[in-house]
Amino acid sequence: MSKLKTFYIKTYGCQMNHSDSERVVTVLIETGLKEAERMESADVIIFNTCSVRQSAEDRIFGLKKNIRELKTANSLRIMDYRLPITVITGCLCKRSWDDSIPKTAEDERKYIRTLKRRMPWADIILQIKDIQKLPELITGKLPYHTIKQPSNYLVIKPTYRSEFSAFIPISTGCDEFCTYCIVPKARGKQIDRPAKVIISEVKDLISKGYKDIFLLGQSVNSWKNPENKYPKTFTDLLKEIDSIEGNYWLSFLSSHPKHFGKKLIEYFASSVNAGLKAIRNNVPHSENDHIRPYLNLALQSGSDRILKKMNRRYSAKDFVEIVKSLRGKIPGLKLSTDIIVGFPRETANDFKETLELIRKVELDMAYINKYSSRTGTASSLMEDTVSWGKKGQRDKKANKVLEDSARKRNKENIGMTTRALITKFNKKEQTASGKTFNFKDIRIKLSPKAVVAAGEFVNVVVKSTSGWSLSGSIVKGNAPQMHI
Ligand code: SAM
Ligand code: SF4
Ligand code: F3S
Repeated sequence: MSKLKTFYIKTYGCQMNHSDSERVVTVLIETGLKEAERMESADVIIFNTCSVRQSAEDRIFGLKKNIRELKTANSLRIMDYRLPITVITGCLCKRSWDDSIPKTAEDERKYIRTLKRRMPWADIILQIKDIQKLPELITGKLPYHTIKQPSNYLVIKPTYRSEFSAFIPISTGCDEFCTYCIVPKARGKQIDRPAKVIISEVKDLISKGYKDIFLLGQSVNSWKNPENKYPKTFTDLLKEIDSIEGNYWLSFLSSHPKHFGKKLIEYFASSVNAGLKAIRNNVPHSENDHIRPYLNLALQSGSDRILKKMNRRYSAKDFVEIVKSLRGKIPGLKLSTDIIVGFPRETANDFKETLELIRKVELDMAYINKYSSRTGTASSLMEDTVSWGKKGQRDKKANKVLEDSARKRNKENIGMTTRALITKFNKKEQTASGKTFNFKDIRIKLSPKAVVAAGEFVNVVVKSTSGWSLSGSIVKGNAPQMHI
């Protein structure tokens, strides 16, 4: 290890991967390595990969040239052609790995060989759950085919990248098996973390002054306490966390409509509304209003025919009903969703139904994805009938409808006073960036000598919108909060 001093980590994909990377950093720091500021100066480079779409995988396979250049530069500079050691982990590494096949050393070797053929430049390839073995692997003490027992890597304490905002996975993996999605194969079966572990992590973060806490899960609201005692369900867990006193905000993502039942709707709305009631009565926003009026509820398609083919197990009407019920109770709710365009056999009419639904529910935000066939998923056996060009056109159209809807929703925020969490202060321009209580991006114009710090709550009045985001300025004192 004497030669290895620094590491650099590059993370692709979703928040869950970013959270995993925080655990990888802990493992490496505990080994005595320091984090390098630039990839070029690191002795070990970790690529935490995503395989949700072909484009995400191609980004990793395409690293070949960069790695070759880095190794050549090192061989000339320090006469060591082996550096940097490149490590591939994350969802790509489990991609072709089937949990039902017993893992022998030979299976493991075969699996590594398959990936090695695609990435001959990668020195180490290992699944995220084996990350505790990384120190032995980079020092060459352990050949990677000897890894047999996957350990519970979530017990590793994360090295949080932010000092005020934190992701907490409450589960990993997914049991939903949407026909297009590689995640159940890439991350395996859903494993829920015990409530006491989650609650203690939240308490610890709050005591350290964290302001913005995100509970993560692929289908976060299907969480169940593996210890089979209170808090048993996701709603119970949310209640327990919400009851922890402190000056923080709480969000959860991503929610699956199938698991968004009445109890969750009621609790979510009543908690958010306790804050809103205070607002209507002109009482300043309380430190104990935690749950943000923000929800990411994945729709995927507005057509029942396509939802069925996707194995989503709810109808477009079910989705609208949940949104209607929530919007009726929380008028300022920011709603975002995920949509796939060009799923096999998606007709012009199916797509029209998706557009109509986006208009109807007036989305604040959506992540629109062009369907990408993933080997190993059920939909990869269906003919990919919608051409790439057509998917592009549908993507554009959906984005246009979304932009109009986001602009309309954001306009409704103009004139409102709300709390915002500063994420960045730009002294040169005397501006700051932040997130409002309902999770909207806001650019804040500061008075000439004002100073704010990242992680600080301020009261802002919303003055305008550029369409996707808001602009505003700081209001002094305990201004009443009106995010409705
Ligand atoms: N678990 C979350 C949920 O169900 O909302 C999302 C997880 S997935 C990692 C993020 C998004 O990627 C999905 O919501 C879906 O819209 C998109 N996605 C997944 N598989 C895809 C595929 N094969 N092609 C295109 N988009 C895909
Ligand atoms: Fe994928 Fe569906 Fe699970 Fe989300 S819920 S991760 S889309 S299988
Ligand atoms: Fe990608 Fe894995 Fe997340 S496939 S989107 S990094 S769960």
